[in-house]
Amino acid sequence: MAASLASLYDDHFRIQQSRTDAALAAEGFAALAIHAGQAPMQFLDDQPYPFKPNPHFKLWTPLADAIDSWIVYRPARKPQLIFLQPRSYWHQPPTVPEAYWTAHFEILVVHEASHARTHIADIGHCACIAESPQEFGDWNFAACNPPRLLQRLHYPRARKTAYEIECMRAASRLAATAHRAAEAAFRSGASEYDIHLVYLQASRQTDNELPYSSIVALNEHAAVLHYQHQQRRAPDLLRSLLIDAGAQSAGYAADVTRTFSAAQDDFAALIRGMDNLQQALCSQVRPGVDYTDIHLAAHRMIASLLRESGLISSTADEAVESGLSSVFFPHGVGHLLGLQVHDVAGFMVSADGDSKAPPDGHPYLRLTRTLEPGFVVTIEPGLYFSDALLDAAQASAHAAAINWKRVATFRPYGGIRIEDNVVCTANEPENLTRDAFAKV
Ligand code: GLY
Ligand code: MN
Ligand code: MN
Repeated sequence: MAASLASLYDDHFRIQQSRTDAALAAEGFAALAIHAGQAPMQFLDDQPYPFKPNPHFKLWTPLADAIDSWIVYRPARKPQLIFLQPRSYWHQPPTVPEAYWTAHFEILVVHEASHARTHIADIGHCACIAESPQEFGDWNFAACNPPRLLQRLHYPRARKTAYEIECMRAASRLAATAHRAAEAAFRSGASEYDIHLVYLQASRQTDNELPYSSIVALNEHAAVLHYQHQQRRAPDLLRSLLIDAGAQSAGYAADVTRTFSAAQDDFAALIRGMDNLQQALCSQVRPGVDYTDIHLAAHRMIASLLRESGLISSTADEAVESGLSSVFFPHGVGHLLGLQVHDVAGFMVSADGDSKAPPDGHPYLRLTRTLEPGFVVTIEPGLYFSDALLDAAQASAHAAAINWKRVATFRPYGGIRIEDNVVCTANEPENLTRDAFAKV
């Protein structure tokens, strides 16, 4: 396994070199310095916020705790990893890395963050990518976070290397294992908080290692798209669980949602309907397909399911046309996934920065690109019984087309989202999530 990851990383490294060379040449920079990031202190306190590495840094190295380290990249030279190893007795200093990727770097160890400057300030025409560029105002950078350079680096990131996809397979395995444990906890009557802890334990992650805060929503809470609480006490009657929870491997994310009904009831049938249409949408992840069309297909399929389930009286086409389907499905069908859970460049149509907006009436769609082999996307249709959206619909022209009695029977279940991570290939799409669940 380690050997094959090493050879995958070799190719990944070469691909990132050629992408970076092209971006630097196009924008006239001689070098690139990437700051890993810092863990800033909380206001009036000596406690730091959790460290979240710069995604540009994670592209080159899986290091998760290299605070104040740098990567210095110059075309045709071995890049440098300027690795900060503070001499501290308050904290455990990070170990100088030695792994499948380190042979590609000249590793320079510094013991004070400011000493990195001596390796960087004389380079000339060097661009910097850093979360807090004001910290390096006198480091002689030609530019910090120049938008056009960032665009040129972001655009190709949608096409994942084989190494990146392998890391995402590993993340998917962690997530699938943990989702199974979470489902079992739900079936045994656990609270949101306890399901969250079971998920963390089974995925072998701390909260800070998750790619995003888990959404663990019982009953009505499942209607809140990014429900953010974890009630310590389970409700007396457990009807449903929506859990949207991920994992990371080597800095790459899995982003997975499952919904369960406690009983074999109408809500369970609605989940099956959503699962069927979600799988049909996954099969549309193919080269040359405009992702916007998958989003619009999701609206038509969800509108058909709403009608078949007796929730609306309009035809599917009418419901999509009028915006009625958005009362129940108010978010995008998915997004790019990778180093960031909502990976960059979802609207870009070229490396020059031209972009394509989502269609009118669909402001929350995060991805409008035409799919290519190597793109990894989520497919996450949803169907919710949201008080906020239903109350607005009741006071609108949509009211007459909604079967309010039927809606009332589903409101206590909250809603449904089913989310898989899918790789676009030249042939059949690879569903990282379903594959991982099949192996648990
Ligand atoms: N977990 C956030 C999302 O699904 O986009
Ligand atoms: Mn997602
Ligand atoms: Mn998600």
